[in-house]
Amino acid sequence: MAIVYVGMSADMIHHGHINIINEAAKHGDVTIGLLTDKAIASYKRLPYLTYEEREAVVSALKGVVKVIPQETLDYRPNLEALKPDIVVHGDDWKTGVQSKVRDQVVATLAQWGGKLVDVPYTPDISSTKLNKAVKAQGTTADRRRAQFKRLVHSKDIVRVLETHSGISSLIAENLEVDVNGSKRSFDAVWSSSLTDSTNKGKPDIEAVDTSDRANTISSIFEVTTKPMIYDGDTGGKPEHFAFTVRTLERLGVSAIVIEDKTGLKKNSLFGTDVAQTQDTIEDFCAKIQTGKNAQVSEDFMVFARCESLILDKGMDDAVERCKAYLAAGADGIMIHSRLEDGQEIMDFCKLYQEFGLGRPLIVVPSAFDKITETEFAKAGVNIVIYANHMLRAAYPAMLDVATTILENERCFDVRPKCLSIKQILEMIPGTK
Ligand code: SPV
Ligand code: MG
Repeated sequence: MAIVYVGMSADMIHHGHINIINEAAKHGDVTIGLLTDKAIASYKRLPYLTYEEREAVVSALKGVVKVIPQETLDYRPNLEALKPDIVVHGDDWKTGVQSKVRDQVVATLAQWGGKLVDVPYTPDISSTKLNKAVKAQGTTADRRRAQFKRLVHSKDIVRVLETHSGISSLIAENLEVDVNGSKRSFDAVWSSSLTDSTNKGKPDIEAVDTSDRANTISSIFEVTTKPMIYDGDTGGKPEHFAFTVRTLERLGVSAIVIEDKTGLKKNSLFGTDVAQTQDTIEDFCAKIQTGKNAQVSEDFMVFARCESLILDKGMDDAVERCKAYLAAGADGIMIHSRLEDGQEIMDFCKLYQEFGLGRPLIVVPSAFDKITETEFAKAGVNIVIYANHMLRAAYPAMLDVATTILENERCFDVRPKCLSIKQILEMIPGTK
C-alpha cells in the first residue's frame, strides 16, 4: 500500500476533515501528522483540545492507520522521515500563510517521486462561526486554569492584556488582528492591582481586599474563556496567602504573582519616590513555599516578582534574590524595572538564561515600552504583560466626552466619540 500523509490540527473535527481523510484513504494507508500545540500556536490561537485529546479523536476516525506528531508548521522533517508517496491537503493552502509551506511540500516530495493531491476545500464551513459557538459554550474553572501552562509551553511569547471589567475583557477575549496572514490575539488577561484599585477610585496600596478583587475576577470570567494571571501584590501574611491561593485556584485563575515587598505596598512605578520596604529573602522564600504547599491542582503557578531594580538595589541583589526564589519553589520570575531604555531588563534577561532553570520569565513593559515582543522573546522572556493600558486608555476618553458635554450643554457633539447603540447590540449578544 502507498503511504499517504495528511497534516492537520483537528481541533474541531467537521465534515471537511472527513472528506480529506476519505480522499486520502483512496490512495493508500493514511498517516495523520497531527500538529502539536506548539506548531499550531506558531501561526494561530492555541487549540481548544490538547494534543492528547485531539490524538484520541483522530485515531478513532475511519481510514486513519497511524497518527504521528508534526512538531512544526513546516512539513519537511516528517516528510523526510516518512518518505510518503502522497500528501493530501485541502486546496485552501494554495493562498495565504500556508502557501509557502505547500511549495516546500511539493519540492520535498519531488526528491523521491512523491506527489501532492490538493482536495477541493469543502465550502460552507466557517471556522469563525465554529469558534464563536465553542466560545459561547464557555469554559470551566479547571479547563481555564490548565490553559496557561499549555500556552507557556507552546508559545515563544505569551501575550497578556490587563482587564478590569467585563467590557475591557471582551476586547481581550475577542480581538483578532490579521498581520501578514497570521492571526494575532491576546493569550490571557492580567488582573492588575493598580487598575482594579483605580477603577474603584482607590489607591494601589492593597486597600481593595481579596474578596473585592474576586468580584472583579467573576465579572471577567463571566464573559471570557482565556486564562488569568492575578497580581497578588505582597501576598499579605503567609497564613493569609495560603487562603488566597486556594480561592484563586477554585475560581479558575492560573497563576499569581507576588512581589518581595513588605509593609504598606505602593505601586512599583513610583520607585524610590515613596518609602517602600523589600522583604528579607528568607521571609519571602517562606511565603512562596506556603503558597506552593497550599495549592491543590498541578496547574496553578506562583511567580515571584523581584523589586530590586525598582528599589535601586542593583543587579547582583536581583540575581541573588531570584535564584533563592526559584530554589524555594517559585514557578517563575517577574522582573520589574522603571527605566525607560530597558537596558537593565535586557541585562537581567541575559543573566536569567544562566540561572533561570528554564522557568518562565515575565516582564511588564509599562516604562520600557519601545521593546517589541520579538526582542523580548529573543532575550529569553516568556510572558509579556501589558499591565494597565485598557484602564489608562478608557479614562482620557471618558474625560474628553464629559468635558465636551459641559462645554456645549448638549451631547450631540460627542456622538462620533461614542459607541452607537447598534454597536452595543452587536458587541453584546442578548442585549435586545
Ligand atoms: C499592576 O499592574 O498593578 C502592577 C504592575 O503591579 S505595575 O503597575 O507596572 O507595577
Ligand atoms: Mg500591582
